[in-house]
Amino acid sequence: MSRLPLRTRLTLVFAGAMALVLAATGFVLVNRLASSLDHTVDQGLRARAADVSALVQQADSGLRSAPRGTAERGDFAQVLDSRGRVFDQTPGLDQERLLTLAQLRSARRGSLLVPRTGDGGEAVRLLATPVNAQGQKLVVVVGASLAGRDQALFDLRKELLLGGPFALLFASLIGYFVAGAALRPVERMRSRADAISARDLSERLPVPRARDEISALGNTLNQLLGRIETVRTRERRFVADASHELRTPLALVRAEVELALESPRTEASLEAALRSVGEEADRLSQLAEDLLLLARVDEGVLTLRPETIGLGEVIGGIATRFERRARDAGRRIDVDETRLVVDVDRPRLEQALGNLIENALRHGSGTIRVTTVERGARAEIHVTDEGGGFPTDFQARAFERFSRADEARSGPGAGLGLAIVRTVAEAHDGEAGAANREGGGADVWLSVPLAEPVPQRRDVRTRV
Ligand SMILES: Nc1ncnc2c1ncn2[C@@H]1O[C@H](COP(=O)(O)OP(=O)(O)OP(=O)(O)O)[C@@H](O)[C@H]1O
Ligand SMILES: [Mg+2]
Repeated sequence: MSRLPLRTRLTLVFAGAMALVLAATGFVLVNRLASSLDHTVDQGLRARAADVSALVQQADSGLRSAPRGTAERGDFAQVLDSRGRVFDQTPGLDQERLLTLAQLRSARRGSLLVPRTGDGGEAVRLLATPVNAQGQKLVVVVGASLAGRDQALFDLRKELLLGGPFALLFASLIGYFVAGAALRPVERMRSRADAISARDLSERLPVPRARDEISALGNTLNQLLGRIETVRTRERRFVADASHELRTPLALVRAEVELALESPRTEASLEAALRSVGEEADRLSQLAEDLLLLARVDEGVLTLRPETIGLGEVIGGIATRFERRARDAGRRIDVDETRLVVDVDRPRLEQALGNLIENALRHGSGTIRVTTVERGARAEIHVTDEGGGFPTDFQARAFERFSRADEARSGPGAGLGLAIVRTVAEAHDGEAGAANREGGGADVWLSVPLAEPVPQRRDVRTRV
């Protein structure tokens, strides 16, 4: 059954149920008609029994002279005496007793209904009632033929047996068409889904206008397609951007090497070429690491190893790392003292903070300040500078992968730094954001979860 098409299965179930309903209806109808006919026959019998009893009480005879028409209609009567002999009867009956001796005995005690009798011949229904007349105890038996009743029932059964299958066939056909109509939108969606290829995910399934389960399913599937399309587009852009970013340093390395091989060079220029190649190799490996981190996040396999640590310690360490570069550029890194203790994956937080300070050094100017604020269950770490800040039309896209403001395009960098900052913050159930300060300069922040404060710990304050 489960291998049959759904439409056929629905029709078969419907037809089965319909057959049961029709059979039950037919059964009830036949029984109702039978009992109603029996009731009518019984009423007739009782009325006639009363008539005949009255007749017998008035005169010794009278049945013999009853009009023949009565007998022809199938009605007849017989009066039996106490010994069971025929005392009187309507014409057309032979001299045989209509009741058996046992029935006669029972009828003498009270009315007796013999629902169906007539050995071999026509079926009849009898009603026997005792009556005291002519100085003795007589039994009046009235009878009616059941031929009419039986014929009516036979006709009804015949009609039901002939009409039932037709009704069943008709209902099944309707069921078949209704099931087909109901499943048509599903088939339409299926064939469209079949045609949607992995290359072009912009197509959507046709959703029926009715607001039913099928249209709900269609909408849900379309939303799913939309999400798959978004992910695919992002993936493609990621791969395209990544290869583009990899190409630039590789081309530089190649050019540098070719130049060094072509012309005879002094030792100093060769060393400079090698240094430049080394720098590009560093950038390449940094890029590869950034890409790997983002790919891990996308795959959902980035695991954090959080530890409880003083935030001041982390910030101080990172600031020290950038100390020389800042000094060389004539810049300063100010770190506010903080006693906040956080639950973080230290290398990841250091990576994110490093990206922020690197950005402030590279894209901003003036003093770089690292401050912390306690906000609910989180610590917010802000890195501010005194440069030009984010271009307003770019600010909203700053955290997207490979996004760089026009001014930054000429310089080094792939545009992954802030994407990683946000990824690290979100991996810690935190957030990241960027704004321009009122007095000028950028304010970029991320938040990480606070741990229980450790009062004894000495926070590090670094001033570079
Ligand atoms: N402190 C800042 N001041 C002004 N603009 C900034 C600042 N930080 C970031 N930006 C802008 O945001 C862009 C994105 O920064 P992000 O760190 O993601 O990339 P990047 O620094 O260009 O490259 P990468 O960090 O991958 O080496 C930068 O290119 C720059 O235009
Ligand atoms: Mg950066």
